[in-house]
Amino acid sequence: MLYLVKDPLYRSFRYDIFLKYGFTILKMEHKFFPDGETYIRFLDDIDPEGYYLVIIRGYPEQDRNIIRALFILETLKDLGARKIYLCLPYMPYSRQDKRFLPGEAISAQIIARTILDRGADIIITIDVHNEAAYHQLNNRFVNIRSTDLWCSYIRKNLPDRDICIISPDIGRKGFIKELGEKCNATTLSFMKVRDPHTGKILHHEPEDPDAYRDVLKNRDTIIIIDDIIATGGTVAGVARRIRRDGFQGKIYTFFTHGLFLGNAYDKLMYAGVDHVICTDTVDNPFIHEDVCVGKLILNFLEKKGLLPYVK
Ligand code: R5P
Repeated sequence: MLYLVKDPLYRSFRYDIFLKYGFTILKMEHKFFPDGETYIRFLDDIDPEGYYLVIIRGYPEQDRNIIRALFILETLKDLGARKIYLCLPYMPYSRQDKRFLPGEAISAQIIARTILDRGADIIITIDVHNEAAYHQLNNRFVNIRSTDLWCSYIRKNLPDRDICIISPDIGRKGFIKELGEKCNATTLSFMKVRDPHTGKILHHEPEDPDAYRDVLKNRDTIIIIDDIIATGGTVAGVARRIRRDGFQGKIYTFFTHGLFLGNAYDKLMYAGVDHVICTDTVDNPFIHEDVCVGKLILNFLEKKGLLPYVK
């Protein structure tokens, strides 16, 4: 049997997709004590032969989410569950992936190890900030790239456009190359030019100026795609530059994880962005149903044979 443990605080996530594949929702009570501490109780019996998929939101309230995940994992294990997959579609703490300054906690690794130690067989996530930060966990940490989702969004919603897909920094070059090949679109990367003393981003420069000039002249649609929108500064900076250089076509922005801190959305609008599209890894107002990540998780489980009962 397949069991799904839903996170009561994860409002936008499309859990319903899983029900079509034979998952049964495990009944769970969740509340906060008056002092803010978390309470969890399972109301159904635990099936030792069952496969349990626990899907927890990563943002906001990262610390509380992690506590909730740990309580769920340890309790499931304690009550007899033997196969538990924990899915955090947005992996919290993934940006502190190394010791930038002496003495810092490498939070990304601490969180992942703690989750695995508490009873998860594997952690599944989508478009993690830096896959390499989790290499030591081998095949117990699975990062699923969202390229297939974006590709079908483009095919369905932008079929006749002459598109260039832009990555706002070099780190995402591999991702846009994969996406461009899948949906037959041109790609281009920007570089962040930083002040050598302060590290502050000064401006954004196209990696290949000739290809960039060609895009400005000959494409009618630009898609800027990034894993995370936090303050909005990165993508707004690139969009502003593209408009300043005379691009008159449509600018779409695609984000896997829509955190939208402060006035991030306004920054995009002031920079000349026309459309904002997000997946459902983080609750936000810009989620599009064509890019809900549940499909990716199900495909992954099916391909790997991790859930033999998936139809
Ligand atoms: C950076 O490496 C990430 O891929 C994003 O570009 C960054 O987190 C976006 O942050 P913000 O929206 O604050 O510019």
